[in-house]
Amino acid sequence: MSENYYITTPIYYVNAEPHIGHAYTTIVADVLNRFHHLSGRKTLFLTGTDEHGDKIAAAAAACDESPKAYVDRISRMFRDLWPRLNISHNRFIRTTDEIHQETVQYILNRVNERGDIYFSEYEGLYCFGCERFYTERELVDGKCPDHQKAPEVIKEANYFFRMSNYQDWLIDHIHRHPDFIRPQRYRNEVLSFLSEPLEDLCISRPKSRLTWGITLPFDDNFVTYVWFDALINYVSALGYPDGEDFHAFWPVAQHVIAKDILKPHGIYWPCMLKSAGIDPYQHLNVHGYWNVNEGKMSKSVGNVVRPLDLVDIHGLDGFRYFLLREMVFGLDSEFSEQALIARINSDLANDLGNLVSRSLTMIHKYFQGEIPPPGPSEEADDALKQSALNGIDTYQTLMEKLALHKALMVVWEVISKVNKYIDATAPWVLAKSDQERLSTVINHIFDTLRIVGGLLWPFIPESAEKLQSQLGLAVTGKSVTLEGLRDWGGERPQQKITKAPALFPRIEQPTQLPKEKGPSPQPEPSPPEKGGRKAQKPLISLEDFQRMDLRVATIRKAEPISGSKKLVKLTVDMGELRTVVAGVKGHYAEGDLTGRQVLVVANLQPVTLMGIESFGMVLAAEDASGFHLLVPDSEAEPGSTVS
Ligand code: MSP
Repeated sequence: MSENYYITTPIYYVNAEPHIGHAYTTIVADVLNRFHHLSGRKTLFLTGTDEHGDKIAAAAAACDESPKAYVDRISRMFRDLWPRLNISHNRFIRTTDEIHQETVQYILNRVNERGDIYFSEYEGLYCFGCERFYTERELVDGKCPDHQKAPEVIKEANYFFRMSNYQDWLIDHIHRHPDFIRPQRYRNEVLSFLSEPLEDLCISRPKSRLTWGITLPFDDNFVTYVWFDALINYVSALGYPDGEDFHAFWPVAQHVIAKDILKPHGIYWPCMLKSAGIDPYQHLNVHGYWNVNEGKMSKSVGNVVRPLDLVDIHGLDGFRYFLLREMVFGLDSEFSEQALIARINSDLANDLGNLVSRSLTMIHKYFQGEIPPPGPSEEADDALKQSALNGIDTYQTLMEKLALHKALMVVWEVISKVNKYIDATAPWVLAKSDQERLSTVINHIFDTLRIVGGLLWPFIPESAEKLQSQLGLAVTGKSVTLEGLRDWGGERPQQKITKAPALFPRIEQPTQLPKEKGPSPQPEPSPPEKGGRKAQKPLISLEDFQRMDLRVATIRKAEPISGSKKLVKLTVDMGELRTVVAGVKGHYAEGDLTGRQVLVVANLQPVTLMGIESFGMVLAAEDASGFHLLVPDSEAEPGSTVS
């Protein structure tokens, strides 16, 4: 295997704030980068931002900023986010970087000199959201499948890339390299695109329509199509054509993307590379989509999940662990805060956290924080050692295959084995009867934890490093390697082990995530609402909500309650008459209430207020301007249910 490793994320559009989807791809690339570092390779990890094109120009105009000021600001948001998610990238590229723009022009010239670019008049169906032409065949019910809008007919003279020249070569390349695009479902998808004749790619936009782009080196009336520009980032960041990094890292290039951008990466990019005389990348790794409430995240629906909100509330490593454990690489997954909390509590707080805390306590209590020399080992000890060492091998194989969730399952099998080993060997009994056996057991627990810490480092680096320092070991980021982890009985603590605070505290209940700000990133946060708003209550499930019996009721009688400044006794008709005490005094005169319809929670436990039993609660909203009863917008049958 090569000593170098090069991993990239897509360069993200700067027309929106980073969300959990961007975070997932970047965290996956980070895990792989760290794993290959742990395997002893020299790694290069690239991410960045895609800053040209219609979409960006429109987003800048919507914020009343110049494109340059706008892209600087949003690109900075991405750049600032990654350290907060502990992303270990060592290069960040922007398509507005001079070096990138020069490389794009250089490649355009090469492709042109090769005769692969021609000028032609074209009429086609153009989706402004995707910034590309669509064929009829690609539309769903006449609409762009991504933007659900009918594309516009555009007639334009433009430059075209002869992608069709490379169709046969690409099909052959994919057949000869079965894991060029993986997992296999996406390889099949690309082969299925390629089973139809490939159209040439329109690679320019006239400056009369768009100026925010890289000027074509052979015609300054045009800018480069944003995808032809963006894909080149993967080599411009390496200093193509002459850079040392290009020679060292391009032969082992791996891209990580989601399924939405399979076509540009699986088809345009290899054809562009071939035409420019550059070898294709080694692997295209494609993952699925994070959905929320079984649908796509969307700004208009307001269900976009922002990574920092989750990290602030539940901690970085809980968030990273959840994303990596929950999603099968290649398939879609559903995000929910409840599922995140369940994972943190069961896997991190219970299984791992308890193991670490009971182990550290025993080392501290029985051996004053030192690891004693082991005595002879027994069958149970050898079994634990073998499963931890085998775990390293299986983990390595699974990581190479991108089965990240399975690699985590392997680590958890080891965690479960050591927990059972502790229960079976009962060190607290041995402490009273057999010091030598206790030493052997403690040694086995220590080495297994050392391995667990190392294997977890790519996934949850901060907690793994905390565990390693609690064990008195060197932290992985500096000197540990996968090979070193195999050295059973090798590394021993450099300082005394003490009891330590829990690695992962349990989370008692879900918190309502802050609401999304709005459709496009604004320079300043919007001012707080007039009168202020109470913090949202914790989430409840649909089942919880459905347990509520909400009804329309007509007020038949309203009577003051002597001695109360707020309460009024209402007799309401909900198909049957019942008494409800409501805090509406001062807001409505009793006489004004009679005959009105209101909404009532009908199945509340009865309560006695000022000596009167109340069988329900009237719904109302309150703000700075006063008190507002909630009412049906037209007369409804008393007792009708509300859902
Ligand atoms: N700028 C292009 C990429 C050019 S790369 C040469 C682009 N940018 S993007 O901002 O739209 O990012 C798309 C990528 O963001 C996806 O491929 C994926 O990596 C990530 N995700 C965006 N939404 C996602 C989900 N809902 N779920 C998982 N990942 C998603 O396309």
